[in-house]
Amino acid sequence: MDKIIIEGGRPLHGTIAVSGAKNAALPLIAATLLCPGEHILHNVPELRDIRTICTLLETLGASCSIPKPHTLIINSDNVNNYEASYELVKTMRASVLVLGPLLARLGRARVSLPGGCAIGARPINFHMTGLQKLGAVLELEGGYVDAFVKDRLTGAQLSFDIPSVTGTENMLMAACLAKGETIIRNCAKEPEIGNLIDMLIGMGAKISGRGTDTLVIQGVKDLHPAETTIISDRIETGTYIAAVGATGGELTLVDCNPNHLPAFLDKMRNVGISIEVKENSIIAARSGPLRSVDVKTNPYPGFATDLQAQIMALMAVSQGLSVIDETIFENRFMHVAELQRMGADIRVEGGRAIVAGKDRLTGAQVMATDLRASASLVIAGLAAEGETTISRVYHLDRGYENLDVKLRRVGASIRREPE
Ligand code: EPU
Repeated sequence: MDKIIIEGGRPLHGTIAVSGAKNAALPLIAATLLCPGEHILHNVPELRDIRTICTLLETLGASCSIPKPHTLIINSDNVNNYEASYELVKTMRASVLVLGPLLARLGRARVSLPGGCAIGARPINFHMTGLQKLGAVLELEGGYVDAFVKDRLTGAQLSFDIPSVTGTENMLMAACLAKGETIIRNCAKEPEIGNLIDMLIGMGAKISGRGTDTLVIQGVKDLHPAETTIISDRIETGTYIAAVGATGGELTLVDCNPNHLPAFLDKMRNVGISIEVKENSIIAARSGPLRSVDVKTNPYPGFATDLQAQIMALMAVSQGLSVIDETIFENRFMHVAELQRMGADIRVEGGRAIVAGKDRLTGAQVMATDLRASASLVIAGLAAEGETTISRVYHLDRGYENLDVKLRRVGASIRREPE
């Protein structure tokens, strides 16, 4: 296990290339299970979660190869196993994304229930009731969801109580091969879902409603492999913008899509960070003081919960009081206690955190508790006076490609050492 050591107080200057989005790559990799053949994915980030889902696909009978960096070829000719084991699912909840494609292709899937995690209970009841509507029979046994369908899944109408990202993705993949029409209402609209829809359409699926909260899928009998490029990671982009906001300086983020961060970029401007947007790049700079803003997380296009911890670190060094409401996950404030160890003034009341900005944080030994919490500790460490040591960095490696290397190149004093 590695730890990260940061000597804070240095402004960031330079250019960072944003990687492919983890949360787009995961469903697109799962979608290769839908039909036999050789699927080619470009701009795949090199991350622990990507290695985990590839291992999962290999246990199902697929083979994965990386002919050159960031290109992943998956051959799913021999997919014949339908069980996603607890051993793999417990390390990555997104493993549940194989449920829809396996059921659609093999008529059978046995997937371990993920259980709770550091940010909340995170049930998968929407995935399960959705698949039942498509005609699957589901049984819960020994901690596993055992799903089977007699002939083919059948199109149906369903509506999410609240928009679920991976729930929408599972339903989409399952409905592509179902008999007849499926309508999914109140679905999630995240850009990663658009990426999946583009891939599925490239594979021969018939889907309309992309980018809206109602998707209509006309099931087809067969799909064929496609070549698809993963979109850039909007959360990684936002993390570096928050970082330069906290340290001061100027960063040019290239290979990103500014249109995927509407609410976040608005907030950053209100905070006092100058944001210049080009087609595939963003220049973010901060020289003056930071102003506190209030934040409420919401499904896309609202303020992403995956950027809540990072903006909290920024608010900890802003002028004024910030109220941060987390509406997506009930327990996503694990970073608060660690930020407090660095001197941050934060009070939590239920799903709300109240941050009183301070001139400076001070370096401390802190512990990463989940992926985005780790990113917030890095931002706090970059802005703090003195040395910050972040342990359990494996959380960071799940979702940020070469974060320490990228930050070092733009002037941060950040190094990695074995713990
Ligand atoms: N929910 C249910 N039942 C379900 C599914 C979801 O009650 O069956 C609830 C959740 O508990 C939550 C809300 O619905 O309160 C929304 O959760 P959603 O299903 O959208 O989350 P997810 O699909 O499990 C994805 C991302 C998360 C991100 C959330 C919200 C992937 C692989 N994961 O999770 O990413 O926070 O959407 O945007 O796409 C991360 O990258 O750090 C991360 C946690």
